[in-house]
Amino acid sequence: MASEQQTSQDGGGVATAEQAQDTLTVTDNRTGRSYELEITDGTVRGMDLRQIKVSEDDFGLMSYDPAFTNTASCRSAITYIDGETGILQHRGYPIEQLCEQSSYVEVAYLLVFGELPTKAQLDRWVYDITHHTYVHENIKKFVEGFRYDAHPMGMLLASVGALSTFYPDAKQIDDPEERYMAAIRMIAKMPTLAAFAYRHNLGLPYIYPDNDLSYSENFLSMLYKMTAVKYEPDPRLARALDVLFILHADHEQNCSTNAVRSVGSSQVDPYSAVAAGVAALYGPLHGGANEAVLRMLRRIEKPENIPDFLEGVKKREERLMGFGHRVYKNYDPRARIIKKHVDEVLEATGDNPLLDIAVELEKRALDDEYFTERKLYPNVDFYSGLIYEALRIPADMFTVIFAIPRTSGWVAQWMELNEDSEQKIARPRQIYTGERDRDYVAIGDREGPEKITGPPARRPPRPRRGA
Ligand code: CMC
Repeated sequence: MASEQQTSQDGGGVATAEQAQDTLTVTDNRTGRSYELEITDGTVRGMDLRQIKVSEDDFGLMSYDPAFTNTASCRSAITYIDGETGILQHRGYPIEQLCEQSSYVEVAYLLVFGELPTKAQLDRWVYDITHHTYVHENIKKFVEGFRYDAHPMGMLLASVGALSTFYPDAKQIDDPEERYMAAIRMIAKMPTLAAFAYRHNLGLPYIYPDNDLSYSENFLSMLYKMTAVKYEPDPRLARALDVLFILHADHEQNCSTNAVRSVGSSQVDPYSAVAAGVAALYGPLHGGANEAVLRMLRRIEKPENIPDFLEGVKKREERLMGFGHRVYKNYDPRARIIKKHVDEVLEATGDNPLLDIAVELEKRALDDEYFTERKLYPNVDFYSGLIYEALRIPADMFTVIFAIPRTSGWVAQWMELNEDSEQKIARPRQIYTGERDRDYVAIGDREGPEKITGPPARRPPRPRRGA
């Protein structure tokens, strides 16, 4: 809570250590009044600003933060990121240890339930996920209805949303059993839906899940199985894919997670909330950078062209894709882990000359003041595209593969939202900038062009900014 003080503007001074309190004193220079706002966990409450008014009928002060760049929207105990030092932890466990010792399915359990499972808990979790990988045959028909060249992410988005119609009981979001079943079904069925979309684009028959295989092996089987009775995945490829799944499982309040929480706050069923996350991930500023890295490496063509390319970046003619991050101002820990697996994958699939270009490009950029001064380091997308390419996964599918593991993060965040008594329906405020109090004009009296050629004119938009 905040309280108002009638103090003078110049009466403050610097508090000594003994006097220091977890409060913020703000003075409204419009009125000369001062207010003391409580500071908790390094934040002040937006609602505490509302008491700051110039008159009794004033609505009160609001904060303006488009894109939430400095606003915490929730309390969360799932994922911790320290972007300055390059730390990523899930439920307190460093990502490096999880990638080294865990499996994606176990990490999914950790994210959803908060603790590493015991042997019995993991066995049950794996059993439940494995036995819910099949989708209703009508979903298959539904996917078949898409055009041959439909974007797989569009197909995934639609089919995840459609799942809500197959499991109407999921609407009972306060029932723990229903919540558990929705979590299991989404994590289990996402690879099946993704693989169906992939095979649809290729005009190949869909492959049903194989319960004898692990989560990642089964996904490879559903992508690649042809005439063989049993698909036997290369363990190096299955392990690399599993590590990629762990690395993409959650990343705290990013765009798609925020979408899941915002839509979920309406108390809609979890399939619909997760479909909103898939939609957000579809956007090129969120899920699509690894594809851009591959295009960039192809354009550079050979290591000798790197100096010219970097000069172009410094002149701002280009962007070094796969470098830089809104949160990480150090080496993205996920990039370091992926890099280790690239060699292993290429050993199984054969060399890729793009890797030599990527390694040399990274080395030169990290030796260059332009990038080090701006704290631009490789991010998760710098090397992941190379692994996907080695797995013969087409670029259109990269974001789909991101969505598979991110589902466990979305589900964990959705569960946390529903257990948080402080949360309500998400409903931001706005600063209204439009007209007011105009009288309706009869159609014959309105001004405007006589003939229409393009879409109706709108006021000029404000220039768009990047992510
Ligand atoms: N290449 C060249 N210059 C860059 C780059 C880059 N990749 N990224 C940032 N800069 C420069 C930028 O021009 C600016 O320079 P100046 O101060 O001289 O104007 C400075 O670095 C700060 O950049 P910013 O645009 O304010 O940083 P941001 O936090 O808004 O942008 C970013 C973050 C990821 C959008 C950006 O670094 C970028 O576009 N990177 C390339 C795309 C990419 O790899 N995206 C994947 C992100 S990881 C995916 C995930 O975690 O979900």
